[in-house]
Amino acid sequence: MVDGRVSWKSSFAFLVCFVVGCHGVAHYYIGTGIADVTGPAAEVDMMGYANPAQTSHGIHLRQYSRAFIIADTAKKSRVVFVNVDACMISEILKIQVVQKLQTLYHGLYNDSNVCLSGIHTHSGPGGFHQYVLFDVTSLGFVKESLDSLVNGIVKSIQNAHNNMVAGNIYINTGELLDSNINRSPSAYLNNPAEEKARYKYNVDKNMTVLKFVDENAKPLGMISWFAVHCTSMNNTNGYISGDNKGYAAQLFEREMNPGSLPGEGKFVAAFAQSNEGDVSPNTKGPHCINTGKPCDILTSTCEGKNELCIASGPGRDMYESTKIIGGNQFKKAKELFHSASTLLTGPVDYRHQFVNMSIQIVQVNATHNATTCPPAMGYSFAAGTTDGPGMFDFTQGSTTSNPFWNVIRDFLSKPTPQQIKCQHPKPILLNTGEISFPYPWQPSVVPTQILRIGELMILAVPGEFSTMSGRRLRNAITEIAIQHGFPSNTTTVVAGLSNAYADYIATYEEYQIQRYEGASTIFGPHTLQAYIQKFKTLTVAMARGSPVPVGPSPPNFMKELFSFLPPVLFDHAPMGQNFGDVVKKPNPKYMPGGTVEVSFISANPRNNLMSGKSFLTVEMKQSDGSWKTMFTDADWETSYHWERTSTILGESISVITWNIPDQQMPGTYRIRHFGSSKSMIGGSITPFEGSTDIFQVAASPLSEKKGIQSYLKFLKHVKMQSELNENVA
Ligand SMILES: *[C@@H]1O[C@H](CO)[C@@H](O)[C@H](O)[C@H]1NC(C)=O
Ligand SMILES: *[C@@H]1O[C@H](CO)[C@@H](O)[C@H](O)[C@H]1NC(C)=O
Ligand SMILES: *[C@@H]1O[C@H](CO)[C@@H](O)[C@H](O)[C@H]1NC(C)=O
Ligand SMILES: *[C@@H]1O[C@H](CO)[C@@H](O)[C@H](O)[C@H]1NC(C)=O
Ligand SMILES: *[C@@H]1O[C@H](CO)[C@@H](O)[C@H](O)[C@H]1NC(C)=O
Ligand SMILES: *[C@@H]1O[C@H](CO)[C@@H](O)[C@H](O)[C@H]1NC(C)=O
Ligand SMILES: *[C@@H]1O[C@H](CO)[C@@H](O)[C@H](O)[C@H]1NC(C)=O
Repeated sequence: MVDGRVSWKSSFAFLVCFVVGCHGVAHYYIGTGIADVTGPAAEVDMMGYANPAQTSHGIHLRQYSRAFIIADTAKKSRVVFVNVDACMISEILKIQVVQKLQTLYHGLYNDSNVCLSGIHTHSGPGGFHQYVLFDVTSLGFVKESLDSLVNGIVKSIQNAHNNMVAGNIYINTGELLDSNINRSPSAYLNNPAEEKARYKYNVDKNMTVLKFVDENAKPLGMISWFAVHCTSMNNTNGYISGDNKGYAAQLFEREMNPGSLPGEGKFVAAFAQSNEGDVSPNTKGPHCINTGKPCDILTSTCEGKNELCIASGPGRDMYESTKIIGGNQFKKAKELFHSASTLLTGPVDYRHQFVNMSIQIVQVNATHNATTCPPAMGYSFAAGTTDGPGMFDFTQGSTTSNPFWNVIRDFLSKPTPQQIKCQHPKPILLNTGEISFPYPWQPSVVPTQILRIGELMILAVPGEFSTMSGRRLRNAITEIAIQHGFPSNTTTVVAGLSNAYADYIATYEEYQIQRYEGASTIFGPHTLQAYIQKFKTLTVAMARGSPVPVGPSPPNFMKELFSFLPPVLFDHAPMGQNFGDVVKKPNPKYMPGGTVEVSFISANPRNNLMSGKSFLTVEMKQSDGSWKTMFTDADWETSYHWERTSTILGESISVITWNIPDQQMPGTYRIRHFGSSKSMIGGSITPFEGSTDIFQVAASPLSEKKGIQSYLKFLKHVKMQSELNENVA
């Protein structure tokens, strides 16, 4: 009568919960933390598109690291999931974060139980890698980029560690439509028909949300996973930005932390990346920019040219597209958060293993084995994707103006016959696995990791899994986990771009088509199968409670890294002017919905990254005469633009824009600018600040709720005002 007893017990528990509430039964300890990781806001190439012209020159959204620590109730086992507003996590980044955590916490947090995952924004400063290929367009290694990431990530984990309370975690899944499309549908189509038939879409539309609450059901944080590239901002954008996921996080945190500035509230909302390899946010799809017609579907070209075929939308420009795709993720996550009712219960566990992906033996079928290969990039990789040219344009010689490239171009390696056979049918453009001058070009050793929180297994993969690759991995791991005694409602999510970066992972069938993703599947056609085998090994070990071998250590060649990015030489204010002087003044008065644009004599923002601070504040005068900061450079409504006005003289200005929200409180405002200048002699760094005159924001007629009359009057006024503005301009 065991069954009867169990059901009696659970009905009793249900009754107790129903009458007195189930609060107080905490299944986990939970800590959440956030910290600023914003990189150098000037002169550094953005990581992702590898467009040498796409260098940073300001900030739209600050980059954050969001950390979640989950421990069992005995605090015997814990895992850390950190979502970082960066293109990906680099090997050297994880190495340095773990080194710092070892010093701070003496082994509590290490490679095995800490997962760092990147959101894949293509608008964050690059140069934080130790492999040549990933640092080419940033002119080599950029220490400022790496340091800001390392310090901010560690700080977010410290904040989470200091915040730990007893609590619960709910999980929920739902479909989000109209927010992602497949950018290589012809490769997807090559997957087996019976496999495709199991899925309604050629991208994953599911969003998975974790809701973290304390034992009194007070919300602590949220993680959502949804597969979509953070390429709503295109390869012309020079403002640091978390793209669609960074914007979604800002919306969620704003709503849960009313009155708090970005990065300062207690509630932490992470929008994490998943199997986004072939998934674009540019939902209008690719079109020929010269004719407006659809591109050639197999090659993504117009009249044979890949640079004419670009995907965009759904908005009229990249800002509106970011807002729509980010807004959609926010709304779906919010809905899933508030309706989440399934508790995670069960152990907290983890397994981690380094694997030499260049030499794995893969079981193809009962009679045949195959091997993975040392890394190589195929020809299609140079063509980029319809989200933007993916990497430097190797074939057109534009790289000759790149000094970093110059040093190494003559040392390119010729692939061996064995390598050509292994990578077949990939035509090898860059034989990265067999060149190590001046140091290795791409990794061989990659981390594999699973974090377990009750019935959820987070599969942390060091790269970009295509839609179908992610599905195969999730299915294989769910199946083997349940076979080995995990609960039958075990579920899995793929956490993309985690712990290191080893490019793309397409299925064997997609690889045959050699689109960008297949060409960038660096370990050959059996890469996915090798990953699946390795993640199965981790799962079985976890089920059995046995350890896994650590595996080969990834190399650390920090000491050898080259950098060709010139340092800041010096800053200088024009004759008779000072740093922080206002160049362009605000108007005396603005209407809500209007735009304030002011500028200041400024200096290179690389002198001080203002981590956890801001290059600007929009301040409102309070009734007691004091000033309250309403917006910073991290807010969507502001932008910070830095521009050199004279390189020889070291002169520059900062332009600050504030788009006044429709519901902005009327009152007296000012905008301040903060920076640091570098002296010509001695190179000392001196902070400066400046403030505009005060200006008024008028009352919004809408907020006065005086009905349709006043609204019509308001519209008329706006029309007059804009005509007036036009006349002035
Ligand atoms: C990390 O720490 C855990 C617990 O102390 C230990 O079992 C594991 O071997 C460590 N892993 C590494 C890679 O050091
Ligand atoms: C999406 O989620 C639903 C509900 O959990 C599930 O039945 C379905 O299999 C999921 N789809 C994919 C492609 O994982
Ligand atoms: C990027 O987006 C802007 C609009 O915000 C557009 O003018 C430009 O053509 C786009 N560029 C590319 C390369 O997609
Ligand atoms: C799995 O099933 C158990 C037992 O019915 C339940 O308590 C738990 O909430 C379920 N978890 C998930 C993720 O469905
Ligand atoms: C990984 O395998 C490759 C190919 O055999 C080998 O050259 C390399 O030394 C291995 N790396 C490590 C760290 O074992
Ligand atoms: C196993 O794979 C090999 C190589 O792809 C193939 O030639 C062979 O026909 C396969 N055998 C079976 C039984 O599917
Ligand atoms: C394939 O590799 C596995 C693991 O290395 C080995 O056990 C098996 O015998 C091999 N099978 C064949 C057909 O070579």
